[in-house]
Amino acid sequence: MKKKVLVARPTFPDVIERLKQHFDVDVNLGDVLPQEEFARRLADRDGAFTAGEWVGEKELAGAPNLKVVANMAVGYNNFDMQAFDAHGVLGTNTPDVLNETTADFGWALMMAAARRVTESEHYLRAGKWQKWSFDSFLGADVYGSTLGVIGMGRIGQALARRAKGFNMRVMYHNRSRVAPDIEAELNAEYASKEDLLRRADHVVLVVPYSKASHHTIGAAELALMKPTATLTNIARGGIVDDAALIVALRENRIAAAGIDVFEGEPNFNPDFLVLDNVVLTPHIASATLGTRRAMANLATDNLIAALGEGPRAGNPPNPINPDVLKK
Ligand code: GLV
Repeated sequence: MKKKVLVARPTFPDVIERLKQHFDVDVNLGDVLPQEEFARRLADRDGAFTAGEWVGEKELAGAPNLKVVANMAVGYNNFDMQAFDAHGVLGTNTPDVLNETTADFGWALMMAAARRVTESEHYLRAGKWQKWSFDSFLGADVYGSTLGVIGMGRIGQALARRAKGFNMRVMYHNRSRVAPDIEAELNAEYASKEDLLRRADHVVLVVPYSKASHHTIGAAELALMKPTATLTNIARGGIVDDAALIVALRENRIAAAGIDVFEGEPNFNPDFLVLDNVVLTPHIASATLGTRRAMANLATDNLIAALGEGPRAGNPPNPINPDVLKK
């Protein structure tokens, strides 16, 4: 009998076809499932494909056959990994395939914030453009300035690598220093978070979300930044204290921000909307067709392999808690 899989939200049709070759598939083609319905449809499944659905103790306890949940994202803060371990369920994610695309977008947001791209576009669209003026929409230079990367993992490194072409100094902060050859290649100086915030012109956040990284940037940290500096968050909602950021932007304590991820998304603090000095995007840093296809296929590779099918049967490429595979 075929194993049973839930695809919790819509994905590419050919990816669903791949799953159907191996499994009995229940696909949600509609809106994001209410949590109760997600748990109900998970209950008799052997595996699941998720993209942000919360999977914790209650969901796992209610799904006794479940062996794997494959998240179509590199971040997996929607998984309670303690509960996964306790229930012997494997979690998988989709690292690496999104590094360059996400780094590109970090630059897009940072540059849009620094050079006031969306703010000036709104002005043009509103019919307010009457004349060219020497002082309209003066922004912050990117070329030759100092980039501060908080979180020097694979995406942070891809971001920093791009700074060479902009002749930027690179500072970074991370839980631990990266290997000396990587520091040398990126020409990146390790700094404390406080030192980085004081000196960087453009701060970009790329840390994974955890209890420890909650509000990495709050009022105290924003107060250290230069009034000419920008802050870009392509990491996760909750890394920044959004209410504190709104105050800092409103009072021009920093120049501008680029925000792709929000506390409580897809809901977000509506006070962002009245601010001109922030570029707002709906969690799209990995959103190119090629990368989203690669992520969906990698999540599928993980699911197929973890359920003992396909060429990598029993050996999924991206286990988050590989110890459960030994049991
Ligand atoms: C997107 O946010 C991801 O974690 O891949």
